[in-house]
Amino acid sequence: MNQAASELLEQLNRNSTPYQDPLVRVDWEALSFDRFWLPEPALSLHGLPEFDRLDLDIRLALSRYEFIHFIEGALWLESLFMERIARAAARPEADLTRASYRLHELREEAGHSLMFLELMRRSRLPLPRTRFRRANLANLIGRHAPFESPLFWIAVLIGEEVPDRMNRLIRKHRDDICPTIHDIITLHVMDEARHMAHARETVTGSLDGIPPWLRRVYRPIYRPMMNRVFGQFVEAFYYPPARVYELAGLTPGKRWARRAWDNPQRTAFVRECVSPVLRLLADNGLTLGWR
Ligand SMILES: [Fe+2]
Ligand SMILES: [Fe+2]
Repeated sequence: MNQAASELLEQLNRNSTPYQDPLVRVDWEALSFDRFWLPEPALSLHGLPEFDRLDLDIRLALSRYEFIHFIEGALWLESLFMERIARAAARPEADLTRASYRLHELREEAGHSLMFLELMRRSRLPLPRTRFRRANLANLIGRHAPFESPLFWIAVLIGEEVPDRMNRLIRKHRDDICPTIHDIITLHVMDEARHMAHARETVTGSLDGIPPWLRRVYRPIYRPMMNRVFGQFVEAFYYPPARVYELAGLTPGKRWARRAWDNPQRTAFVRECVSPVLRLLADNGLTLGWR
């Protein structure tokens, strides 16, 4: 490992100590159904004339269920990542600084998942129970790609960057959303900034270790595969299934899901959210695209 990488890991370890428990840092008492959970511009139907005609109550409900769907996705990804870190911890690597940092990430991801469950518990809302496990290739790579491979860490980077951009956009609407949700998103964004710095460093480091000729051989194989994983992550997070709309009182849900899929404003929103990670991957020689 080079000097810059080991300094980064030392720094990340310092910044993760002491541990900040989200369960005690979120203002749970401020949770309310009278405020939006997601700001309107982040809702999948925003921009459609049908959306403008919806009652405020329906739009508020949709913002709650779209947010719950979004954190179900986060729970799914965090569970995959925690599983892999936990398995790798059984054989700590020679580099103890890196091994320590990964356990910091495990602790922080567990904190996020606890925070999401607490929100679900306190809201007493029926859950969409979206079956994210169906995003098959993403699960396959997440669970079985070798832990130190570029493939695994590119998937981690995509899995962290794709929802993070949405979180950053939501944070800009502080005054329009419920303060509890703002707390949740802020805590998540702060920890994820470190996680993504680590993932970026690991991706670059693991790609540097591959000779150029081998990279040329691999690219035609892993590029279409990663493109598919990328599409699965984006669609899983940004396009809620029919049940989410039905829970919000919009029936038949399938028709609303289709409207969201065809909504040009949603496409533009998603593009804005995914463009930074696409640029980052392109800088590392991996050009992916979406729709
Ligand atoms: Fe997280
Ligand atoms: Fe993370």
